[in-house]
Amino acid sequence: MKVDVLLGLQWGDEGKGKVVDVLTPRYDVVARFQGGPNAGHTLEFEGKKYVLRSIPSGVFQNGRTNIIGNGVVLDPVLFREEAEALEASGVELRKLLKLSKKAHLILPTHRLLDAANEKAKGSGKIGTTGKGIGPTYTDKTSRNGVRLGDTLLPDFMDRYGAARDRHMNMLASLGETPDITELEKKWLDAVEYIKTYQVIDSEHEINDLLKAGKSVLCEGAQGTMLDVDFGSYPFVTSSNTVTAGACTGLGVAPNKIGDVYGIFKAYCTRVGSGPFPTELFDETGKKIRDLGHEYGAVTGRERRCGWIDLVALKYAIMINGVTKLIMMKSDVLDGFDEIKACTAYKINGEITNRMPYSLDSENIEPVYTALPGWKTDMTAMKSESEFPANFKAYIDFLEKELETPIVIVSIGPDREQTIERAI
Ligand code: GDP
Ligand code: IMO
Ligand code: MG
Repeated sequence: MKVDVLLGLQWGDEGKGKVVDVLTPRYDVVARFQGGPNAGHTLEFEGKKYVLRSIPSGVFQNGRTNIIGNGVVLDPVLFREEAEALEASGVELRKLLKLSKKAHLILPTHRLLDAANEKAKGSGKIGTTGKGIGPTYTDKTSRNGVRLGDTLLPDFMDRYGAARDRHMNMLASLGETPDITELEKKWLDAVEYIKTYQVIDSEHEINDLLKAGKSVLCEGAQGTMLDVDFGSYPFVTSSNTVTAGACTGLGVAPNKIGDVYGIFKAYCTRVGSGPFPTELFDETGKKIRDLGHEYGAVTGRERRCGWIDLVALKYAIMINGVTKLIMMKSDVLDGFDEIKACTAYKINGEITNRMPYSLDSENIEPVYTALPGWKTDMTAMKSESEFPANFKAYIDFLEKELETPIVIVSIGPDREQTIERAI
């Protein structure tokens, strides 16, 4: 039995989609366990680019089974857009994809509540993706949610109507009285569409597959520093993005988890508000943004950029039980004279390498180690033997600090620009 997990160790957008696609041929099943269309996972191959939001990144290789687990929140309208685009490009999605009956639905009013909540927070806003994620997970935990399986029940419209009316009252109390007639119609049409897919008891399915000797790769969304428990609260998303989330989000028992792939960029980015100790506000930050094309896949927002933060990475490795590391976007640093890595924080004069309770960047001064850049274009390299000495030294430095092997290095957005290391 084998369940491996692949998840982000920073603030999201580490390149999870690309690597899941690369690893898919090694597994029988790829499964998403949390998050929703706040995710934007980019894949590039054969000169084409795809951005996936709710659908797992295993749909492009070898007809693998892809599962959307109970821990995911689904917007039928966005799901339909994504699915129709994939079908139009030749992916036989109806055969490949199975959706959990227990996945919660994002209603049109959840999105309106997300916007209204952000507005009410004023300058303290989280900078959400506006996809209704927070309100949908709130309804789930307060036991007011509407699940995909409910759409198959005779009283679905009553359940939906009760949730909608409750949301409309909440919106009114926030001073909003929107006309949702059109939104609702589009959403209900999309519900009919989504019902034409395989809607299943995914926890049974996945455990049956494991019993039959099949292997599963769980694909995380967001990143550890956006986890609702362990991230930079309250500037986080509303789900558990960590390894434990794969257990609750799929119905897989902890003792079935094998490898945990932790994925990180050779530097660091964040989109939305919240603390980011190594953020760069200077020309170097701008250079990373330009070279790395650091603009959000979902919202198009500028991503904030900075040096790699090893305090945060060590914490993420600990919380997730990471066994193997994957470093992305190494090529973005190809032209730099000097690379910096934050090895500790100075907080009120004291040096620590432990993640503090509050990550308020105002009080945190990063302590950096500087390493020489490699000043070599690595994007066409085919094996690690071609890596320049200073890049090898950067890898060695990171592996020593993080006490975990870096098994894959990514040197460009394309599927082919992926180098596996002999460990
Ligand atoms: P995800 O949300 O973790 O799947 O990551 P995103 O797709 O949001 O963001 C990663 C971005 O970096 C995408 O535009 C990818 O095409 C791109 N990308 C992934 N790996 C590499 C890499 O090694 N080098 C470069 N230059 N770009 C990469
Ligand atoms: P992927 O899977 C980067 C951020 C938002 C905001 C916070 C809460 O592509 O890595 P939400 O809409 O979830 O309530 O927003 O989380 N955020 C992400 N940042 N990548 C993501 O997903 C993200 N999903 C949410 O910017 O700061
Ligand atoms: Mg992304």
